[in-house]
Amino acid sequence: MTCTNSSSASITRRGLLAGAAALSATSVFPRWLIAEAPTAQRVLVRADAEIGVVRPELHGQFAEHLGSCIYGGLWVGKNSHIENLNGYRKQAVDWLRELGVPVLRWPGGCFADDYHWREGIGPAAQRSKRVNIHWGGYVEDNSFGTHEFIGLCRLIGAEPYLAGNVGSGSPRELRDWVEYCNYPDGSSLAEERAANASPEPFRVRYWGVGNESWGCGGEMRPEEYADEFRRFAVYLHGFGEPRPFLIASGPDGNNAEWARGVLSGLRRNMPDGFAMHYYSGGADSPTNFTADEMNKQLSSFAKVEDAVIQQRALLDGYDGGRKVALLLDEWGVWDHLDQQEQVRMGRLWQQGTMRSAVAAGLGLNLFNRQADKLAMCNIAQIVNVLQSLLLTDGPDGERCVRTANYYAFSLFKPHRTQIAVRTETDGACPLGLSVSASKGGDKLVLSLVNPKSDADLSVEYELRGFTAGSGSAQILHDADWNAYNSFENPARLALKTHPVTVEKSRVQIDLPRLSVATITLQSA
Ligand code: AHR
Repeated sequence: MTCTNSSSASITRRGLLAGAAALSATSVFPRWLIAEAPTAQRVLVRADAEIGVVRPELHGQFAEHLGSCIYGGLWVGKNSHIENLNGYRKQAVDWLRELGVPVLRWPGGCFADDYHWREGIGPAAQRSKRVNIHWGGYVEDNSFGTHEFIGLCRLIGAEPYLAGNVGSGSPRELRDWVEYCNYPDGSSLAEERAANASPEPFRVRYWGVGNESWGCGGEMRPEEYADEFRRFAVYLHGFGEPRPFLIASGPDGNNAEWARGVLSGLRRNMPDGFAMHYYSGGADSPTNFTADEMNKQLSSFAKVEDAVIQQRALLDGYDGGRKVALLLDEWGVWDHLDQQEQVRMGRLWQQGTMRSAVAAGLGLNLFNRQADKLAMCNIAQIVNVLQSLLLTDGPDGERCVRTANYYAFSLFKPHRTQIAVRTETDGACPLGLSVSASKGGDKLVLSLVNPKSDADLSVEYELRGFTAGSGSAQILHDADWNAYNSFENPARLALKTHPVTVEKSRVQIDLPRLSVATITLQSA
C-alpha cells in the first residue's frame, strides 16, 4: 500500500499540554465527562513543489438510466406536477448549476451497451419503448434521449460525455451517433439533427467505446475487447470539430491482467483515454454503519490511490501509453442496499451520510495528490443512485435534498484549475488525516479530511514557498457518521465557517472527528 503520510503520529507541545490537563482532571471527574484533548498533527505544504493542474474534470459526474436517476430524478417531463424547466427537475438543475458540473457521462454504465441512440430522438410518439434489462426489467419510453441530455448539459454547464454501445451495438451505429452529434451540416444525419430542432452541432468531445467490456459490456476477454476497440476506432473520426476523444474500457479496480491484455492487443492503436472503475463496497446499510465497517470502507481509498499510481505506471510502460489519459470513470461508495427501499425510491437509491461525505473527501484529496496522473474522475452517480449529490423522495416525489456528498464536492471546488502542490503529514495511514493543497494566483487552498470516528485533531501547518496574509475555512462535520439530510430535516448537514489561525507560514485549525474542511489562504 502506498500512503503519502508516514505512519508515525507525533505529539506536539500543545497536544502534550492538553493531554496532561486531561490526565490530571480524571482524578476529579469521571472519564466520560472530560472531552479528550485533540491529537496534534503536523502538515508541511510544499507550495514550491508542483504536481500538476487540478483539472475540473476530476470532479466529474455520471448519470445512468438506472432507478430514478434520469426518469423522476433529473427528468420529470414537461407535464409533471413537479416544478420543471422544459421537463428537467428545476431544483436539481438549480443546485447542480450552482455547484458546477464539469463533465457528465451518460447513458451508462451497463445501460450504455444496450442503448440504441436512434430510439431516443425525434417526436415522442415515434420513440421506442424499451426494456431496461440491467436495472429491473421495466419499460422506458426513451423520452430522455440525446437532445434532452445535451439540453441538460447546457443548463448545468457540463461538458457532455457519451458512452457508446459496443456490447450489443455496431461500429456503424456508433459512427452514426458521432456524425449525428458533431457534423455541422449537409449530411443526412446532420440534417436530421437540424430537423429535430438542433441545427447547431452538439460538438461532443468525449466518447466511450464500451463500458465494463469485461462484464456487462459484453463479457469479453481483454484481447477480444482490444480487437473490438481497434475495429470501432477506425470509423470514429472525420466529423469535424472536436476530434472525438476515444475512451477505452479499462480495468475493474486495479486489475492489471485486463489492462495488460487490452493494451498489448491495441498495439499502435492506443485510445485517448483508458477508463478504470473502482467502487468502495460497504457491508452495512447506508444509515446503519458500524464503526468497523465504516473504517473498512474508508480504508479502501488508500487502495484506490495505489490503483491510480499503478495503472498509470502500467500505461506508461506501453509504446504510446504515456499519451493515454487515465480516467477513474466510476468511483464511490456502494453500500448494502435495502430491497424495499429500492422498490419505493428506485434501484440503487442510497442515502448520503457524513460517512459518505468523508469518503468523497478522501477521494477528492487523492485526486489532487495524483493530479498529474488523472484526467477525469466521475462519481457514481449524480442523482438518486449510489453516492449521489442529490436525492429525491422517489421518482414521483416533489422533494429534493442536497446530500452530504454535495457539500463535500462544494468544499473542493476552489481547487479546480489550480496547481496541486505536495503535502507531507505525519498522520497514520490509511485512516489518518488526509490532506491536499493547490495554488493559483494569490491563493493557496488546503483541504483536510479527518476520517477518524474517535479522535479530534489539532492540525498545525507549515507552509513552504507561500506566506499567508489572511485565511478563512469552511467545514462539514457531524460526529454521527450515520447522520444525513432527510426530507424532513434537509439541512442537518451543511457547510459552516470554521475558525482558523493564520500567521505567515503557520496555520492552525481544529478538525473534529469525521469532518471535511477547506482553508483558503490569501498571500501576504
Ligand atoms: O454505477 C452502477 C453500475 O456500476 C454501472 O452501470 C456499471 O458500469 C458499474 O458496474
